[in-house]
Amino acid sequence: TDPGAIRNFCIIAHIDHGKSTLADRMLQLTEVVDARQMRAQYLDRMDIERERGITIKSQAVRMPWTVREGERTGESAVLNMIDTPGHVDFTYEVSRSLAACEGAILLVDAAQGIEAQTLANLYLAMENDLQIIPVLNKIDLPAAQPEKYAEELAHLIGCEPEDCLKVSGKTGAGVAHLLDEVVRQLPAPKGDADAPARAMIFDSVYDIYRGVVTYIRVIDGKIEARDRIKMMSTGAVHELLEIGVISPEMLKGPALGVGEVGYLITGVKDVRQSRVGDTVTINARPAREALGGYKDPRPMVYSGLYPIDGSDYPALREALDKLKLNDAALVYEPESSAALGFGFRCGFLGLLHLEIIQERLEREFGLDLISTAPNVVYRVQIEGGDEVTVTNPSEFPAGKIASIWEPTVRATILAPNDYVGAVMELCQGRRGQLKGMDYLSSERVELRYTLPLAEIIYDFFDQLKSRTKGYASLDYEPSGEQESDLVKVDILLHGDPVDAFSAIVHKDKAYNYGVTIASKLQKLIPRQQFEVPIQAAIGSRIIARETIRAIRKDVLAKCYGGDISRKRKLLEKQKEGKKRMKMVGRVEVPQEAFIAALNTS
Ligand code: GTP
Repeated sequence: TDPGAIRNFCIIAHIDHGKSTLADRMLQLTEVVDARQMRAQYLDRMDIERERGITIKSQAVRMPWTVREGERTGESAVLNMIDTPGHVDFTYEVSRSLAACEGAILLVDAAQGIEAQTLANLYLAMENDLQIIPVLNKIDLPAAQPEKYAEELAHLIGCEPEDCLKVSGKTGAGVAHLLDEVVRQLPAPKGDADAPARAMIFDSVYDIYRGVVTYIRVIDGKIEARDRIKMMSTGAVHELLEIGVISPEMLKGPALGVGEVGYLITGVKDVRQSRVGDTVTINARPAREALGGYKDPRPMVYSGLYPIDGSDYPALREALDKLKLNDAALVYEPESSAALGFGFRCGFLGLLHLEIIQERLEREFGLDLISTAPNVVYRVQIEGGDEVTVTNPSEFPAGKIASIWEPTVRATILAPNDYVGAVMELCQGRRGQLKGMDYLSSERVELRYTLPLAEIIYDFFDQLKSRTKGYASLDYEPSGEQESDLVKVDILLHGDPVDAFSAIVHKDKAYNYGVTIASKLQKLIPRQQFEVPIQAAIGSRIIARETIRAIRKDVLAKCYGGDISRKRKLLEKQKEGKKRMKMVGRVEVPQEAFIAALNTS
């Protein structure tokens, strides 16, 4: 294809603003999918794919389009629509998808206006120098206020309100005009056709039948079906088994040239061998320099995953091995805990990534799991000694510490004017630093904060929602590290530390953490034959204490004679409890107590 006829674009939108619906209309209008085949959310096929055991996602679709009206009527183009992953943990993947495009459709619900995710993605698109087409969607809705939000959008990106297109993905109104504008407004890709080939990987997906399917955007040169390709980050060389485009199914082709978007298959079995952001070149005539922007996926949040039934441990290992094939960011290694038995310490891109993995392990592999409280990665400089990376609070060095560094995020929060005070209070309570504040309109405010990642991985989003009656939206991305005054709090049961409850927290919050966990355990752990102190400690200094008082072991003592069935029930309960008791030092603790304490923290 002549690069001059190619337009590579993505749609950026806040969740539920109608991206999938609009994409469906485009597939239909361009006749890539005909009306009969059309099923709602063609691009969103995860569930169906899962049923069929196929995991291919249409990360990019090629659509032919001829300008219908206005200037340049009759001009033919090839549109490549590239999908961007939808949530905060995958900022890097989003940035690579954007880097594969020349332009972006900024889609905003005309009844909702701009939201945090819209902004965060817009900033990423601007960093990648994309041309932006502002579009208001859902104009068919009675509640739509396209004029009002056109002002907001125009103000934000520095255009005129009239430049904002108005469409309805549902009825199809304005969508053909939008495609015409994509051809007219977005630049064609530029690249050197005679240079050694360079293509950027913007996604890589494992398929059980075909191995890894890699999505690429060619920048320079040409990759042909018979080439041997080379991954520039590792130097690994692979035989090319197939190359082609997706429209909307995989169509094998002879080659991909400058500006083209498509897939390649090499037979590798693990997405780690074909990494997002890497540069593909040709082994016979390799490019000298890789394209910029490659980053190794780096886990930001760690948590211990334990099977509730200890005999599921091998099944958990197998399931993780399988998920890893399709997830370059997932890392794990075996660990054991006095409280929870054998499990794995797993690293994730963020809390949502953790939740997705945990849910897949439970749903697709039928495992019952308990996860320990998530923690971030700390860098600890020991006085006069080494620097250590701490991914598990129990590995926190014991000696004198010179400094501790924790990861931070740059958060974008959008809220109605009335809730600015509530948002600021929340952020300050989470050690946030206000970096900027802008009025998008007279009633909507954008707040930019730097926050410690550790402070937002628990319940920040829930808190934000509840304090703003659901009106605020949040997005964030990693923004480096900061030195902080952090301490490790241990929880001791009858003098023995319980590893699953150790936490690294800010000095000012240590007392609170200690009191909360200690009182929770005090309620959850049954009385023993002797008195059991529960203590929270920083090093050897005790900061909180609760006591479980001693009782006689005979649980029947509780039922003053009387009801026999109640007695039997209690006896059974006692027996039942025995089975799942863990010994922590001399104290018998039902595993359920740990699970309950971890779940509510
Ligand atoms: P995620 O994939 O969850 O991020 O959402 P999305 O942005 O892809 O939105 P989706 O296309 O799933 O649409 C969200 C909801 O808005 C659905 O209930 C759609 O039916 C509805 N919707 C989308 N476009 C329109 C539109 O133009 N008009 C109206 N009335 N509803 C629409």
